[in-house]
Amino acid sequence: MKNVLITGGAGFIGSHLVRHWVKKYPDTRVVNLDKLTYAGNLENLKDVENAPNYVFEKGDIVDEKRVAELFEKYRFDGVIHLAAESHVDRSISNPMEFIRTNIVGTVTLLNAARAAWKDNFDGKLFYHVSTDEVYGSLGKDGFFSETTRYDPRSPYSASKASSDHLVRAYFHTYGLPVVISNCSNNYGGYQFPEKLIPLVINNIRNHKPLPIYGKGENVRDWLFVEDHVSAIDLIFHKGRKGETYNVGGHNEKQNIFLVKLLCSIVDRKLGRPEGEAEKLITYVQDRAGHDLRYAIDSSKLVNELGWKPSVTFEQGMELTVDWYLNHEEWLRNVTSGDYQKYYEKQYKINA
Ligand code: NAD
Ligand code: DAU
Repeated sequence: MKNVLITGGAGFIGSHLVRHWVKKYPDTRVVNLDKLTYAGNLENLKDVENAPNYVFEKGDIVDEKRVAELFEKYRFDGVIHLAAESHVDRSISNPMEFIRTNIVGTVTLLNAARAAWKDNFDGKLFYHVSTDEVYGSLGKDGFFSETTRYDPRSPYSASKASSDHLVRAYFHTYGLPVVISNCSNNYGGYQFPEKLIPLVINNIRNHKPLPIYGKGENVRDWLFVEDHVSAIDLIFHKGRKGETYNVGGHNEKQNIFLVKLLCSIVDRKLGRPEGEAEKLITYVQDRAGHDLRYAIDSSKLVNELGWKPSVTFEQGMELTVDWYLNHEEWLRNVTSGDYQKYYEKQYKINA
């Protein structure tokens, strides 16, 4: 049996990836290492928690001893590293946690992989999951390609950029077999509702203000989370060592367009009068250093590995709204407690 370590498997993308791997590869033991921060939730994995090829290990990727112990116990053939602090707004108010987890945590894993694999790297792979935000902000035109110069502009993206550089350094210096992917904004079920799409759906349902930063003109390139997972699977098995692959679905939308679309879908699905949700739109203070536009050129992944997304943006949005409307209890559970305090501090509006 092969052993694969997935870090951050209780989070949004990680839980989709764990579910996919456990079901698709019954001969691989999937070990999910997660610290269960506010963003990690084992409820996301209820449907696979008893699968014979799934194991959960609670732990912090910065904890050298714990990480070494797991490499010793499971003799991993591969690592897919997703654990991170992932929310830009939180990185603005508390950068240090991002440095700790995203940079120090990544190096801790790289060191553990090197030590465990003893420089015999046959059949081994360290896959680092990263973001398009490392490339900075685009103007009205152009796309991020794999050769775009790094220009991170938030503590979050700077910490992810550092981790990418370190992963590449371990490839060049020690020959550690690595691969990196940089993906655009994901959406789908199980996303923590601090992020725009679940936050807006949840607020519409509860008749709460929909906070739009600045003028709502910023553009993000949206990808359905299961299509990110299919890209990771493909890159893990077919990607060339030492290479980077950009992942994105060519779905660039201004925030205000996206929020209005969500308003109309949710109104329709809840049987509310058309236009009701839009009245909740509230323009609030802009995010500091708010990147204007992201857009991914994923032609390398498409042409070299044959990847293609499975759903259109419109289909993905319908599926996503359905998911949140059908998972009221999940939303209630994750938004209770500490989230309320975060929300009031972040938005300083009638929470
Ligand atoms: P998330 O915040 O939903 O989940 C992160 C997970 O990591 C949580 O389960 C959390 O408990 C765990 N974690 C955090 N710190 C940890 C630590 N020190 N040790 C162990 N576990 C820890 O994040 P996500 O949106 O699923 O993103 C996953 C990865 O994908 C991140 O590396 C992120 O940078 C990258 N990414 C995200 C997106 C996106 O749109 N969400 C896009 C591109 C890349
Ligand atoms: O591009 C990939 C990145 O996408 C990932 O690396 C990050 O982990 C992920 O969080 C996401 O970052 P963004 O900052 O783009 O996502 P967020 O959902 O926070 O914001 C999307 C856009 O919506 C952004 O332009 C800010 C804006 N926004 C966000 C929130 C939370 C609002 O206008 N109001 C809000 O309340």
